[in-house]
Amino acid sequence: MSDATWIVTGGSGFIGSAFVRLARARGWARIVNLDALTYAGNPENLAGLAGDPGYEFVRGDICDAPLVARLFAAHRPEALVNFAAETHVDRSIHDAAPFLRTNIIGTQTLLDAAREHMQSLDAAGRAAFRFLHVSTDEVYGTLGPDDPPFRETTPYAPNSPYAASKAAADHLVRAAHHTHDLPTLVTNCSNNYGPCQFPEKLIPLVICNAREGKPLPVYGDGMQVRDWLHVEDHCEALSRVIAAGRPGETYNVGGGNERANIHVVRTICRILDELEPAPAPRERLIVFVTDRPGHDRRYAIDAARIRNDLGWSPRIGFEAGIRDTVVWYLGNPGWVERVRSGAYREWLDANYANRKEVAP
Ligand code: NAD
Ligand code: TYD
Repeated sequence: MSDATWIVTGGSGFIGSAFVRLARARGWARIVNLDALTYAGNPENLAGLAGDPGYEFVRGDICDAPLVARLFAAHRPEALVNFAAETHVDRSIHDAAPFLRTNIIGTQTLLDAAREHMQSLDAAGRAAFRFLHVSTDEVYGTLGPDDPPFRETTPYAPNSPYAASKAAADHLVRAAHHTHDLPTLVTNCSNNYGPCQFPEKLIPLVICNAREGKPLPVYGDGMQVRDWLHVEDHCEALSRVIAAGRPGETYNVGGGNERANIHVVRTICRILDELEPAPAPRERLIVFVTDRPGHDRRYAIDAARIRNDLGWSPRIGFEAGIRDTVVWYLGNPGWVERVRSGAYREWLDANYANRKEVAP
């Protein structure tokens, strides 16, 4: 059990909460979780840590510089792990402003506070401190069917406001290392899946809709490819990067599980039909709808660097992981019901009401 403290931002969201749960279960560090609890942040994800003296929750905004400075001064962390972000591509198409604020200004606010903190440390403290920025493969843009997977050297070419805001943040992190020698680490990970993912994203949306006999909206022809990674494998990778990553370095993280969206949707239908038989196969619920504007065709990750340099590789295969994820959603109907608040329903109206059914 380590006695280090890490500040985690966005720890009440999907990946952040998985990371906090694992960090406490494995004794990686004491955790201070700074989260604004936007629509995507859910304290229930960390209810199991109630009473854990090694976990503290602070409700607040990463753009609030005085608050962030106070947290650094009070906790003197050995690492900051930045998950806090606006994360849904479709929302960024409707309104980019929150993405620019949190993802760009928020990241710079954390970098400034980390620099200030570094100046208060002795040589050993400075040598130990790490700033880990959790980013996405979407900064690299889109791949053709025969292109090699994204490497850390692939030029940035973001195509959505979400991806552009994450790319800007990555550049600011890079600049903080280059200019100020801040010991930064950046990870660019592919699509995650697993428990506690907000049901605006493809996999939980399809599980929840299919279970209830609602339409399963597949954008365009459904042949867009994502490289799926179980959230726990991602969190293990992040822990390796904090422990052994080289300051200033970027690490691509991916599962090597390239799947077309339509295949993912059909897989979920098949598992649900098996676990909770329905009068007719759930595939009948699939509806091809108007595509996402600027929809990236394919993402794929070359994870050779983190595998070779840090000894990480994913442990959870896609078939087993997706089955466990379906089982988790089936076992937690109360969680699903509580996150489907009025705000969630408004989002469904905004995103899906004007999407016409189209031929694939
Ligand atoms: P999420 O949307 O589930 O959670 C985001 C969390 O950040 C929420 O708890 C929210 O309350 C919090 N937050 C938002 N704005 C904030 C602010 N201004 N101050 C403090 N907290 C704030 O996101 P996620 O899917 O868990 O993603 C976490 C990180 O991982 C993001 O940076 C995302 O870009 C990155 N990422 C996600 C994926 C994926 O597939 N989900 C893949 C690669 C990288
Ligand atoms: P999403 O989960 O939003 O992740 P991202 O856009 O970050 O990759 O979407 C995953 C894929 O599924 C993406 O290609 C868009 C597609 N998609 C649908 O076809 N229908 C939907 O209703 C949603 C939300 C996504």
